[in-house]
Amino acid sequence: MKLAHGVTMLPTFMPVATQAAIKGLTSEQVESLGVSLILNNTYHLNLRPGLQVLTAAGGAHKFQGWNRNLLTDSGGFQLVSLSKFTTITEEGALFESPFTGEPTMLTPEESISIQHTIGADIIMQLDDVVSSLTVGPRVAEAMERSVRWLDRCIAHHDRSGKKDKQNLFAIVQGGLDPELRDRCLDEMMKRKEGVAGFAIGGLSGGEEKDVFWRVIKQCTGKLPEDRPRYSMGIGFAEDLLVCVALGVDMADCVFPTRTARFGVALTHGGPLNLRLSKHAKDLRPIDDSCPCPTCRDGTSRAVLHHTVTHETAAAHALTLHNITFQAQVMARARAAILNGTFPDYLRSFFAEYFSDAG
Ligand code: GUN
Ligand code: ZN
Repeated sequence: MKLAHGVTMLPTFMPVATQAAIKGLTSEQVESLGVSLILNNTYHLNLRPGLQVLTAAGGAHKFQGWNRNLLTDSGGFQLVSLSKFTTITEEGALFESPFTGEPTMLTPEESISIQHTIGADIIMQLDDVVSSLTVGPRVAEAMERSVRWLDRCIAHHDRSGKKDKQNLFAIVQGGLDPELRDRCLDEMMKRKEGVAGFAIGGLSGGEEKDVFWRVIKQCTGKLPEDRPRYSMGIGFAEDLLVCVALGVDMADCVFPTRTARFGVALTHGGPLNLRLSKHAKDLRPIDDSCPCPTCRDGTSRAVLHHTVTHETAAAHALTLHNITFQAQVMARARAAILNGTFPDYLRSFFAEYFSDAG
């Protein structure tokens, strides 16, 4: 996938830098891990540092010293998940500013304008998001509104003169109902010329895996082959690989970086909880064959166990490792697809990941 800040090979996992930083790491460190696409949140950047600072800095890339590709989520999902006081109207999402308490409206046009100022290479439509466990007429309403908001986002983006550098993605909604998903897919496909890619939203909210996979399969089965497909909020390695097998190209999640801060190292033999006392005397690195800076300098499981609850450096070391792990899972998938050995890769990954080798 060729964007204004270089090529990103697909499939790829995007680490989340909500507040213009992957917690604990510098942009240089993230780039040195080989990561070429990260995610920022419009909602957070708009509140802090705000658009004046971002404009003065020359956009979010310069503000955070990030030279590679950037994707911004539109803000709708964060508004609903973070604020109890968000009301959705046809005009937009009405919320109470967490700093001033003032009522503030985020419209589809405004979300796009803010994302233009931020300057991300991929920008997301504002969507009306409901939890995947929501049932009843609200699911259809949110899906239909997401289609209408997509029209407003496309119109606003078309007028902006930013289309050569910034790529708008649509977000398929419709909950867990195949009929609603199908209607959403049909409507959004009619708008194909106005968008550069498609995301699958409204998942990973506690639904059964089986249902989640069926929705992914239904969407990838209908979405155009010549546009990237992005499943939002997916980050467990096993889910990433099932999604890739079903035709997904991109995914993001806070999981690998958040779990690092809680002391969990992701490995090909499954997650290792370094807070457990069984690691206290283990002088092996997390993973002998891992290319990350933490494993290469021989940082032991024992020292990570010893420091992880109170030294931020341990959280940074685990974050470096976990981002490398996610990148490796996807890089191996990519290589296997190119070699025609993807089924073998899936078999060996799952056999090792669910063994007790770690
Ligand atoms: N992040 C995770 N799921 C979603 C979604 O459905 N919409 C948006 N905008 N962001 C998400
Ligand atoms: Zn490592």
